[in-house]
Amino acid sequence: MLILCIETSCDETAAAVVGNGSEILSNIVASQIDVHARFGGVVPEIASRKHLESISQVIEAALREAKVSYDDLDGVAVTRGPGLIGALLVGLSVGKGIACARKLPLIGLHHIEGHILAPLLETDLSFPYLALAVSGGHTHLYRVDGIGSYRTIGRTLDDAAGEAFDKVAKMLGLGYPGGAVIDRLATEGDPEAFVFPRPMLHKKGLDFSFSGIKTAVMYAIRSLEKVDEKSTRDIAASFQAAVVEVLTRKTVRAAMEQGLERIVVAGGVACNRGLRQRFAELAASEGLQIVFPSPALCADNAAMLGVAANAYLEHGRHDGWRLNAVANWSLDQLEPLGGFDPLAGEG
Ligand code: KG4
Ligand code: ZN
Repeated sequence: MLILCIETSCDETAAAVVGNGSEILSNIVASQIDVHARFGGVVPEIASRKHLESISQVIEAALREAKVSYDDLDGVAVTRGPGLIGALLVGLSVGKGIACARKLPLIGLHHIEGHILAPLLETDLSFPYLALAVSGGHTHLYRVDGIGSYRTIGRTLDDAAGEAFDKVAKMLGLGYPGGAVIDRLATEGDPEAFVFPRPMLHKKGLDFSFSGIKTAVMYAIRSLEKVDEKSTRDIAASFQAAVVEVLTRKTVRAAMEQGLERIVVAGGVACNRGLRQRFAELAASEGLQIVFPSPALCADNAAMLGVAANAYLEHGRHDGWRLNAVANWSLDQLEPLGGFDPLAGEG
């Protein structure tokens, strides 16, 4: 089964062709980062316009690279939400157009479902597992019992971890988005030079909070006479160490509490080398299997939608033409495979 997948939830215009839910035949991503960097963050209206400009070329490139034509496709999958509504609507409308013109089933998917199933494109992994989704908009812990079966067991109460990385990078004058820059500088800095808080670490429950670390960084910067290259590296390393400690310890605690031995870490922040290294150490010491998708599948991309799309279409589940984009959408609202309404595709 060949599925064309389309993802436009934020600032990457992405299309992929995925075979049988596991074979990535192409995975094209056109990033808008350079355009938004000037404004220090994603400007929603610009994101929608840029998606419109490039979506056709990105889809054509995905088909070309996969060496398939529209006639070869068995379905079209699009990110339905959550995300920027105008940006989502571009991908959804184009997906509907293709599905309608080619008489293909259309399926609208949850962006985070894509992220947390992405490792299945590369690794044999069985359910159930714990998933930590860490991106610019999410820092959530999910219990994953199967495709479509997700339960939130912890979440950030304020900033997402990626958002905190981006805000700290901005304070240090490192540009947008700053996660990858902080990651690089942290390797050259002293993680103990500054003592930043580890919010909620010793509290009961599995929720996170990152705004306090960010504020502590702001005060540390203010306390310095001059923020030179050394102090920038040290702040980056100390900030990253605080975020990594909270993320890793809470995730491992969640896995223990849920009796799960397998953990998936996904989303843009999962590219972070400090986070990967600490999780690798914990995997060895705690006897856990901790899986990270390769970096290209951690950041926003369309191939990650292929796993769920294939499973849903195989079970006859698809959407009707009235399908709309949704800016806010909880993963817990999804229907597990098997418990679906066979008439859901009507309409
Ligand atoms: O998943 P993603 O590409 O888009 C969203 O759905 O949000 O995640 C983007 C986020 C940004 O906040 C970016 O700064 C962060 O991921 N990020 C990183 C790294 N690479 C990207 N954060 C820390 N270390 C990195 N290496
Ligand atoms: Zn994402």
